[in-house]
Amino acid sequence: MIHTVLAHLTCPTCHQGLTAGPGRVHCPAGHSYDLARAGYLTLTAGRAKALPGDSADMVRAREAFLGAGHYTALADRLADRLAAELTGGLTGGLAGRLTGELTGRLAGALTDQPANRLAGALAAGGHGRQAVSGTSQDSGPAQGGSESGGSGTSGGAPVVVDVGAGTGYYLARLLRSAPGAAGIAVDASRYALRRAARAHPRIGAIGTDVRGPLPIRTATAALVLDVFAPRNAAEMHRVLRPDGRLAIVTPTVRHLGEIVGPLGLVTVDERKSERLRAKLAGFFVQQDRLAMDLELSLSPDDLLNLVMMGPTAHHRRAPEVRAAIEASWPRGARPTASFTVEIHAPCPGQTVHHVGPPPFRGGRQEKR
Ligand SMILES: C[S@@+](CC[C@H](N)C(=O)[O-])C[C@H]1O[C@@H](n2cnc3c(N)ncnc32)[C@H](O)[C@@H]1O
Ligand SMILES: [Zn+2]
Repeated sequence: MIHTVLAHLTCPTCHQGLTAGPGRVHCPAGHSYDLARAGYLTLTAGRAKALPGDSADMVRAREAFLGAGHYTALADRLADRLAAELTGGLTGGLAGRLTGELTGRLAGALTDQPANRLAGALAAGGHGRQAVSGTSQDSGPAQGGSESGGSGTSGGAPVVVDVGAGTGYYLARLLRSAPGAAGIAVDASRYALRRAARAHPRIGAIGTDVRGPLPIRTATAALVLDVFAPRNAAEMHRVLRPDGRLAIVTPTVRHLGEIVGPLGLVTVDERKSERLRAKLAGFFVQQDRLAMDLELSLSPDDLLNLVMMGPTAHHRRAPEVRAAIEASWPRGARPTASFTVEIHAPCPGQTVHHVGPPPFRGGRQEKR
């Protein structure tokens, strides 16, 4: 519900706090914003109609694919890792627990990149039921976040901001494992927002373009999550508490390698990882990096949903993709999904890109 997170939100026009009224919210300056009947709040300074975001068909495909459970292993893994930190303390926690503690079904593929390098790319991806591999990299102690003493809550429920949350699938799963936490699902697609708003009672869903200023208070989030979604490093840094963490999930270049060619999928551009690195430089320092490969077992319908929920949907039509699936995999396929999960700490001393009022509770007004 939006009321769960309203105190963390700001007016996109004047950046003051928001108050709830019947069917809408408003700021002290009188700017007001409709609460959709579906429960989400569009917070844009007069450009709601121009919002980008996934189409109705893409979101339907994503919902169906997620609902079939192909992403469960990734969602569980994220929830396991991140919920403990939200409830148990962020400072030292993420670095401590994420490093060297990956056990169970995850068992391999430790990446050998330097700690402050980023890999991955902006793309939509697929996930699967069976975790096949994954390890973590111990890249040293947490940086940039010891002054709070580690609760990550600053006197209130820890808040998770999910950037490009889609249907809210990962955020809802995380909140189920973190009973005290609240989540802000940010997306530009009203079709996604409708789902996210009802994905969990402690989710508040807001519609905005994440490429611009986020209508969220400075230094209010204990965790910022970004799963296959666009990123805005300056804003993610600004909304994050100094002791908070940024978790980014990206597909690797090996992602769905078996089906990329025959189905004409949009591929992961290796140069995107360089661009991502450059984007985050100066804002975040990588703390940990996990690789995770999943063997999927997909019916033809699953394959179609997987293709049509991602960027390929912008280039190809469903009947065309269905025909290609029928031609190559009439009884389904078993491609490998391949992801990287990165955990970053905000750089201390980063120049403030201040948008909005001071933190909601307890936190510092600016990050230095
Ligand atoms: C590939 S989907 C990932 C959704 C979700 N994180 C998941 O993995 O299920 C990318 C999401 O980002 C949203 N998106 C794309 N561009 C955006 C923008 N400029 N501002 C806000 N959301 C955006 C899309 O609507 C979509 O829901
Ligand atoms: Zn205002």
